[in-house]
Amino acid sequence: MSGRSSFLIVANRLPVDRTLAPDGTASWRRSPGGLVTAIAPVMQRRHGAWAGWHGAPDEKLAPFEQDGMSLIPVPLSASEVELYYEGFSNATLWPLYHDVVATPVFDRKMWDTYRMVNQRFAEAAAEAADEGAVVWVQDYQLQLVPAMLRRLRPDLRIGFFLHIPFPPTELFWRLPWRKELVEGLLGADLVGFQLPGGASNFRRLCRRLLGLPYKGNEIFLDDRIVTTQAFPISVDFAQLDSLVREPHIVARAKEIRMELGDPEHVLLGVDRLDYTKGIGQRLEAFGELLNDGRLRPGEAVFVQIATPSRERVDEYRRLRDDIELQVGRINGEHAQLGYQPVWYFHQSYNHEELAALYLAADVMVVTPLRDGMNLVAKEYVSCHHDLHGGLVLSEFTGAADELRQAYLVNPYDVEDVKRQMLTAMRATPHELARRMRTMRRRVATYDVDRWASEFLTALESPAAEPSTRRSASWRSG
Ligand code: ADP
Ligand code: F6P
Repeated sequence: MSGRSSFLIVANRLPVDRTLAPDGTASWRRSPGGLVTAIAPVMQRRHGAWAGWHGAPDEKLAPFEQDGMSLIPVPLSASEVELYYEGFSNATLWPLYHDVVATPVFDRKMWDTYRMVNQRFAEAAAEAADEGAVVWVQDYQLQLVPAMLRRLRPDLRIGFFLHIPFPPTELFWRLPWRKELVEGLLGADLVGFQLPGGASNFRRLCRRLLGLPYKGNEIFLDDRIVTTQAFPISVDFAQLDSLVREPHIVARAKEIRMELGDPEHVLLGVDRLDYTKGIGQRLEAFGELLNDGRLRPGEAVFVQIATPSRERVDEYRRLRDDIELQVGRINGEHAQLGYQPVWYFHQSYNHEELAALYLAADVMVVTPLRDGMNLVAKEYVSCHHDLHGGLVLSEFTGAADELRQAYLVNPYDVEDVKRQMLTAMRATPHELARRMRTMRRRVATYDVDRWASEFLTALESPAAEPSTRRSASWRSG
């Protein structure tokens, strides 16, 4: 089995995205989103391979090496991108798993393509994995892969991690293909979730849908045990902490503040432009603070960085129009010569510029309507060794379970968001430092390495055979 890997990541995307210009020239850039932020440093430290789509349709590429990682491109045709990625993954599963904040589309053609593409990923993994290898499948786009891969390669140790929330049974039940999806996940030895609530939703669903008994974290199948557990994902704290101490980042942060007109308060939002992120809600709150006169003209600016995302999906197109209209309104009503209240960027940035922005910001505003974790919140905390800065954080993020010293808000309650934004702006340095110190301790301790090593340790320690673990109380769950 030479040339095969003993450790393999399988994810919808590779860590780099191939972009084709209209004239046909290709270039690579870092892929968007938290999955790549978390997995890339882990992969660079554990030499393995990563199978995933390279971001361009209708293009077959050979495996290649990049930044110390072996990358195995999985091709997708233009119609598969439409039906599997934009369709079933992002118009069906994404809204369904995020509290139906948009209406999910149920379409049989999308489902058929999702199944077919999952089979292709499973075959690519079966081909790339060495005898007895550890294969770690990532996220909602590939929920059928664990069972498909087990059928092809029963010798493998298979883990699955869901980066987004796992919904309550009542919502999941709507899915016409609910049974197939759950059976797909049960092909893994270990299924990981961001929060304990997601893991228990899944166990209850297995019992209700498939009649499977469970006890504690373990679900009992006829011939084996599937372990389910929460592993809250995190960031590379040490890397960010040392980056923001570099003189050129400190200088850039100062320069950013000057370029913004040196206001008293810089508020910042950094997200993919996604309707789950509550960008409209935070802008509404900021606009109302200006309308109410609770913020003086010139006192504060709001910088919103919105990475382009899933731009061909209708909901995302509408969101972009809505946000740009909202930004235009606030600036139209409140700008003065020399003062622009909202700075909006529909662009991606490199990690140095992002770190400088985090360092420059007095208040980070993170207001998702639902989010599996939210790494941006943890990145902000990692960048403030100066103990300055307040984090306004939605209660509906996974991060809120850990960062209890944030200014927690209900993003559906605009008065609450306004109040907490003001509280963070008016807080004393002592109060900010008290909160920031505790949050930093948490992120420094539970960093991305700890997340990965806890997951992989659990995956590599086999659960006992069901026959030796079953007891009279095994249905007690
Ligand atoms: P999600 O996975 O839903 O996109 P997260 O907050 O967990 O949300 O992760 C987002 C990741 O993408 C973070 O690592 C953040 O730094 C990065 N990111 C967000 N916006 C930008 C941007 N404009 N440019 C570059 N990176 C960005
Ligand atoms: O977990 C969030 C997630 O959907 C990842 O799976 C994905 O890599 C990231 O956000 C970005 O989304 P996309 O790959 O659709 O651009």
